[in-house]
Amino acid sequence: MLKTDIKDELTYIEKVKKINEGKNLKYHILTMGCQLNENDSEKICGMVEQMGYTKTDDVMDADLVIYNTCCVRENAEERLFGKLGEVKKLKEAKGTIIAIGGCMMQEKHIVDKIKKSYSYDVIFGTHTLKNFPKDLYDAILERKKITDILDIDGEIIEGLPIKRNDNIRASVTIMNGCNNFCTYCIVPYVRGRERSRAPEDILNEVRKLAQEGYKEITLLGQNVNSYMRVEREKFKQSIKDESDNVEKSSSAGQRNSINEIDSFAKLLRAVNEIPGIEKIRFISPHPKDFTDDVIEAIRDCSKVSKFIHLPLQSGSTEVLKVMNRVYTKEQYLELVEKMKKKISNVKFSTDIIVGFPGETEEDFEDTLDVVRKVKFEQIFMFIYSRRVGTPADKMENQIPEEIKHKRFDRLKSLYEEILKENNHEYIGKVEQILIEGYSKTNKELLTGRTDTNKVVVLEGDGSLIGKVIPVKIVSEHMWYLKGESNIK
Ligand code: SAH
Ligand code: SF4
Ligand code: F3S
Repeated sequence: MLKTDIKDELTYIEKVKKINEGKNLKYHILTMGCQLNENDSEKICGMVEQMGYTKTDDVMDADLVIYNTCCVRENAEERLFGKLGEVKKLKEAKGTIIAIGGCMMQEKHIVDKIKKSYSYDVIFGTHTLKNFPKDLYDAILERKKITDILDIDGEIIEGLPIKRNDNIRASVTIMNGCNNFCTYCIVPYVRGRERSRAPEDILNEVRKLAQEGYKEITLLGQNVNSYMRVEREKFKQSIKDESDNVEKSSSAGQRNSINEIDSFAKLLRAVNEIPGIEKIRFISPHPKDFTDDVIEAIRDCSKVSKFIHLPLQSGSTEVLKVMNRVYTKEQYLELVEKMKKKISNVKFSTDIIVGFPGETEEDFEDTLDVVRKVKFEQIFMFIYSRRVGTPADKMENQIPEEIKHKRFDRLKSLYEEILKENNHEYIGKVEQILIEGYSKTNKELLTGRTDTNKVVVLEGDGSLIGKVIPVKIVSEHMWYLKGESNIK
């Protein structure tokens, strides 16, 4: 948990601000990918707004365009290249500054392609966020094309400005990187090794959010429930090393007391104590790290959502093994049963990949079988996408596109059946709903979500926005529920 002083980097915010003074400049940002990328974008927005830019949704209107990219599947890449084609003309017409950052920029072949065929001013990676003001300064003042990518893991950066997307719900990144190397996945290559933020920094951020009126916190990490695992292991090793060397053993005890919160379970319990916060979620956990202490913390902490994301990926033990997921179909189902037993009213969402190399009809049936058994409330379904540099990309038994799509459709049909069944169970029940605002499709109605992330619409007064109120569910409409509240 090295902490880096970023005073020097932040001075460039002031420098760019000076250059921009009186110019009324606008920026446009597009974020692709997961909530971690969204959270990074909030930090980019924080820096950019302090540099004197105001946000615009219209890219044509922008003086600075920022793309924060994802590369987890091929379609994310296609989207970026489409966008870069569009802004090329904008740059030619009015000199718009184009900055491209995020996970995709950690892939050499992509950066080479951009340099060869597209217009840009700044390319920055996932480990160089703090340099963004300096990179922008150099690009604007010196009219240089900047590429600022690090292949080694960036340190944990504290103290970047942040401009949040919402004023009720906030994300807090607690760890970065991934050590799991699932064979299909690019994330470990573009986000680096697991490293956790210090608990006191996380708790201070959450306390500050609570004071600002935030009600819901989502703790983020690529393998969020492995929080502090690497640090714990290093610590154990240092104890072992020190006990081999008797003279130094007293300092081990000292350090033990510093790291009181040294696991995800303990962090959940600590966040649960913070007054003002009403709901705590976390994403994305790995099934292997749902140890008993984590399950018990979820059970005991009244604010922690009982709606758990439990990425399955495949229901076939064979496929799971080749994916390097380190659990079998049976172990996954046992975990679900254990959690159901310990946590009353627990519900699950999941991620599933169809068409992983070598997936047979029988393997796919195993996936459907787990879906039928667990009856997930929400399924994020993905068609396997080959990622350059991952072991699965080199496997010879790739599945033809047509079969992948057919299996995807079969999974989707089953999901819709289960969705209906699950929705019916809500009718007549009273749910505690955090009212988020007016419905996008009907401004007369309020909207919120159940704990299980189902959209609920209801009639009510705007003064309820930001409050958690009991809502009786009266009907279901596949992708949303209708509710009634007698609180006006
Ligand atoms: N760290 C998180 C999120 C990883 S990316 C986790 O482990 O759950 C989100 C999801 O994208 C993954 O869960 C997986 O289902 C999917 N995914 C990752 N790589 C993929 C690939 N190459 N093709 C298709 N889907 C993929
Ligand atoms: Fe990718 Fe697996 Fe890490 Fe998730 S746990 S980010 S799927 S390697
Ligand atoms: Fe995509 Fe990077 Fe997230 S690859 S899913 S934006 S960690």
